[in-house]
Amino acid sequence: MNETDFIWVNGKMIKWQDATTHVLTHSLHYGSGVFEGIRCYDTNNGPAVFRLKEHIKRFFASAELIYLKIPFTEEQILEAVKEIVRKNKLKECYIRPIAYYGYGKMGLDTTGAKVDVVVAAWPWGAYLGEEGLEKGIRAKISSYCRPHPKSVPIHAKVTGVYVNSTLAKMEALRTGFEEAVMLDYEGNVAECSGENIFIIKEGVLITPPLDLCLAGITRDSIITIARKKGIKVVEQVITRDDLLSAEECFITGTAAELTPVREIDNKKIGTGTAGKITAQIQEEYKKIIHGTSAKFLNWLEFV
Ligand SMILES: Cc1ncc(COP(=O)(O)O)c(C=O)c1O
Repeated sequence: MNETDFIWVNGKMIKWQDATTHVLTHSLHYGSGVFEGIRCYDTNNGPAVFRLKEHIKRFFASAELIYLKIPFTEEQILEAVKEIVRKNKLKECYIRPIAYYGYGKMGLDTTGAKVDVVVAAWPWGAYLGEEGLEKGIRAKISSYCRPHPKSVPIHAKVTGVYVNSTLAKMEALRTGFEEAVMLDYEGNVAECSGENIFIIKEGVLITPPLDLCLAGITRDSIITIARKKGIKVVEQVITRDDLLSAEECFITGTAAELTPVREIDNKKIGTGTAGKITAQIQEEYKKIIHGTSAKFLNWLEFV
């Protein structure tokens, strides 16, 4: 990974190398932390964090869902994010806030356990590769399904829950694909290991409803952009058959941005390249995140 100089830890800027933790940290053992993934983009007016307020809101909402009390205000974490970008003199970067139960208590009862909060930032290019962004990726329908909503809060970005995503991602890579499409417990399309999913059928953009997937901030941005462009968007159950017979398909996430999917389980989607509507929305999205569109400027938080 691309190291930077400083990491914000519990309200203080400390050197990257010094941001270490004890081996008996509670969350290391039980996966009891929450995190965010945020991107900052270079614009003509300097670095701007994309939809920062929404990410901070989700960070606190995730914490609440696992009864973890972040010992800072939303405003303080928002400022910490801006400060970490400035302090490391970054123009474009990925930002990772994380809150977790630290050292001092073992066992599953988290009552009274110390909460540590960290905000790190580092340069991180195209998550699924530049070629993937342009030409589309090949995905596999995973043999792992997403967790049942009664087993873990699916709308929280909980560290431990990401073992499910890691297993799916590694299975996809091992079998020669780049990403995993994950079904829900009933066998309908839910999302990918770290992205939401969209298909296009007869010109309509379709994505699974929020009771099946994480409320992705990129997902919300894409729905908003598409509707503004006059594209019809519906949130409805997508079956495996719907997915494999789609005219176009793409996935969205802070890390992966908008990445077209050209093949699923060795079956071409549409023409087997990035679809036409997909490319149009992707182009608009790129302009918005880099501040070169007059639309949605309120989504940019200048540092
Ligand atoms: C499981 C999962 N789905 C979807 C997403 C996309 O969310 P966002 O667009 O907010 O990054 C992510 C990434 O956070 C994720 O981990």
